[in-house]
Amino acid sequence: MKTLCLPADDMGILYGAELLKKGELVAFPTETVYGLGASALDAAAVARIFAAKGRPQDNPLIAHVPGLVEAEEFAHFTPLARDLAAAFWPGPLTLVLRRKPPIPQAVSAGLDTLALRAPSHPVARELIKASGLPIAAPSANRSGRPSPTLAQHVMEDLDGIIPLVLDGGACDLGLESTVVDARGRVPLVLRPGSVTPEMIALVSGSCHTTESVLRPLKEQESAPSPGMRHVHYAPRARMSLVEGSPENCRTLLARLAGGQEKTWVLALDGFLDGLPGVQVISLGKDEQEAARRLFYLLRAADQGGITRIYAKALPRDGLGLAVMNRLARAAGFDIINADLIEKP
Ligand code: TXA
Ligand code: MG
Repeated sequence: MKTLCLPADDMGILYGAELLKKGELVAFPTETVYGLGASALDAAAVARIFAAKGRPQDNPLIAHVPGLVEAEEFAHFTPLARDLAAAFWPGPLTLVLRRKPPIPQAVSAGLDTLALRAPSHPVARELIKASGLPIAAPSANRSGRPSPTLAQHVMEDLDGIIPLVLDGGACDLGLESTVVDARGRVPLVLRPGSVTPEMIALVSGSCHTTESVLRPLKEQESAPSPGMRHVHYAPRARMSLVEGSPENCRTLLARLAGGQEKTWVLALDGFLDGLPGVQVISLGKDEQEAARRLFYLLRAADQGGITRIYAKALPRDGLGLAVMNRLARAAGFDIINADLIEKP
């Protein structure tokens, strides 16, 4: 199949909407990452998403809608879910609720719940509007690879496999949406993102975060969100996270990465200034920049033939938690505590 990569202008969006109505796949930009869309009302189209990505059949998809009114057609909204939608939609928040019949089981991989999100990116919004459909869309990467934040990343993974990529430039936020189970009275964050637990608690009074955000699931443990079972974001390089006091982290990283070829250390600006022989790659000046850059850098490491990556841990609050979740998963949860090794 020939894959067209077109600018996400009026013409491109109109063509994308036509393809979606015919049951075809279209990759499109959102404010978080690029999505790989299909009509959420068409089980055969949804099956194409799983095939194109090589996605495990048990991992459900997010349905993208214009807003709350449409979302209520597809799921049972709780008072909590309405409050969260009012506060954060359109935007990078996905709500997991009890599914209603119009959406086929294929979208939610057989679960009786459905994940819903109203994106804020103008291209995503116009594509939903022009197609008149709820759009089922996971991130537009091959399963296991870092999520795409540029149209070029989608082409790297899916060229020849899907008919159309709409190029809307770089994604603003760079990390996938916050996924929240909003079926009860207290929200439960299943996947952290740009809408932080702290922001959610301001709306709902409290907010829980599933424990397995920063550690692997145990063998017998049930996955609150099926996506947590699967390998994610893995670069080809072996990767480790390094945490501990700044002093101990610096000492350890200098020892591990100093003078090593094809080895990167990812850290926020300034942290590793003046460490000799260490190839430091900046994650940016703060968590926000780190979120925007992370997937781009993991893909760049692959292209540069990097074989070893160390990442300096970020604070685990606010947006830091979302970045840490992706770093920890990319590292297969290999987290080194410098304080235990360096003992000042
Ligand atoms: O920002 C985003 O969320 C992007 C853009 C395209 O919207 N989409 C995205 O989709 O990241 P995906 O499929 O890569 O990740 C969706 C996550 C998965 O971890 C999946 O397991 C979880 O949401 N999920 C989807 N439906 C669910 C459900 N009914 N219950 C629990 N978790 C669910
Ligand atoms: Mg994904």
